[in-house]
Amino acid sequence: MKAISIGLLGLGTVGSGVVQIIKKHQDKLMHQVGCPVVIKKVLVKDLNKERAVEIEEEQLTTNPDDILLDKEIDVVIEVMGGIDATKDYLITALRYGKHVVTANKDLMALHGTELLTVASEYGCDLFYEASVAGGIPILRSLVDGLASDRITQLMGIVNGTTNYILTKMSNEGRSYDEVLKEAQELGFAEADPTADVEGLDAARKMTILATLGFSMHIDLEDVKVSGISNVTEEDIRYGKQLGYTMKLIGHAHREGEKVEVSVAPTFLPNNHPLASVQNEYNAVYVYGEAVGETMFYGPGAGSLPTATAVVSDLVNVIKNLRLGVNGKSAVTPQYPKRLKDDSEKYSKYFLRIHVEDEVGVFAEITSIFAKNGVSFEKILQLPVKKNEVSEIVLVTHRTSISNYEQSLQELNDLSAVREIKSAYKVVR
Ligand code: NAP
Ligand code: HSE
Repeated sequence: MKAISIGLLGLGTVGSGVVQIIKKHQDKLMHQVGCPVVIKKVLVKDLNKERAVEIEEEQLTTNPDDILLDKEIDVVIEVMGGIDATKDYLITALRYGKHVVTANKDLMALHGTELLTVASEYGCDLFYEASVAGGIPILRSLVDGLASDRITQLMGIVNGTTNYILTKMSNEGRSYDEVLKEAQELGFAEADPTADVEGLDAARKMTILATLGFSMHIDLEDVKVSGISNVTEEDIRYGKQLGYTMKLIGHAHREGEKVEVSVAPTFLPNNHPLASVQNEYNAVYVYGEAVGETMFYGPGAGSLPTATAVVSDLVNVIKNLRLGVNGKSAVTPQYPKRLKDDSEKYSKYFLRIHVEDEVGVFAEITSIFAKNGVSFEKILQLPVKKNEVSEIVLVTHRTSISNYEQSLQELNDLSAVREIKSAYKVVR
């Protein structure tokens, strides 16, 4: 078989890892796919930038057509990021019969269905394993490994940057800003880290996971999202006192025919399997009706872990080429989308409230919750004398979002309540 020619879009953190792995593992690739793999051209923004890997000057280009329209290029690997222009590039590549591998969750969460349709129209593969949880082969596990089961729950730490920040804040008492900067320097964070810290990156990944896991087309706007930018060291400290660890958790749950998908900073009991996932590591807990509990763990970001997933997709493209079955593996969703409404979504909640230090305030608060059918599992009351406010920390029993939000609204209207300082989900 002739050498497989690659066009690489992007030579940053992930692109450099792809070049390294293809060079270093050439013998293994040759053994797996039976032909050499050659990177012909690499698209970058800045030709003069210093690169983390050795690359010939003539391999670099700033003109995407040098890759997209080159008849000799068999596979386009997209590791440049971006949405609209990148989507156009990939559609052009597919129309020119090129198979595509991408690490781009922003693009796949928004336009995955359209791109997969174009790919199958043109008999091309479009693989995107690296788009969720970096080096963990979770997409292939859902689509192939658990193909025979009915998955009812996916719960995961799917953003390395926020897990890195929360781990360092919790274990080393370091500040949010300092650790975010470190995550950027280490290459985990997105170019604009707002998507990481506000939960959007995790929401995009949960969209992809839920769509594959539940065989139901889930849109990004179906995911209820909140991020970690308002999490304080005090919240983490109070959580610790109550035996909890704070994580940014993506949760997709199917009950009957209906589903819910959310991303939120969440307190987990310290003995929960996801509580021990540290730093940039990711983990996805998957519950299937037949298999029961499974858990997938590994590095969720970074150059070589992510590149491993990219190059494994490339190996699958080449294997399909040998078998002549490219463009045949994508399966369209089986079920129509049915989302739960707020009265059908249940959780426990942690609340930290500042109230006037007066007699009877606590009774007023508990009566609001009682009226809405919300009861408490844990309560901490800590006087803060200098501001003449008391701090109350509550953990509720499981309750519906509607009852919980109604209670919050009534609490806010209570004159004795100065401020609801923080509110988080709590997982059993
Ligand atoms: P990055 O370090 O910022 O690299 C982006 C590369 O693409 C750079 O080489 C840049 O060129 C090039 N590029 C960007 N826009 C371009 C444009 N308009 N025209 C030409 N070249 C352009 O990004 P990254 O961290 O490698 O991430 C790449 C993709 O992988 C993203 O979709 C990201 O979400 C995804 N991903 C990243 C990780 C991770 O751990 N970093 C993990 C999983 C998935 P210059 O070098 O010349 O600036
Ligand atoms: N910024 C992402 C993260 C990169 O921190 O998880 C991997 O998708």
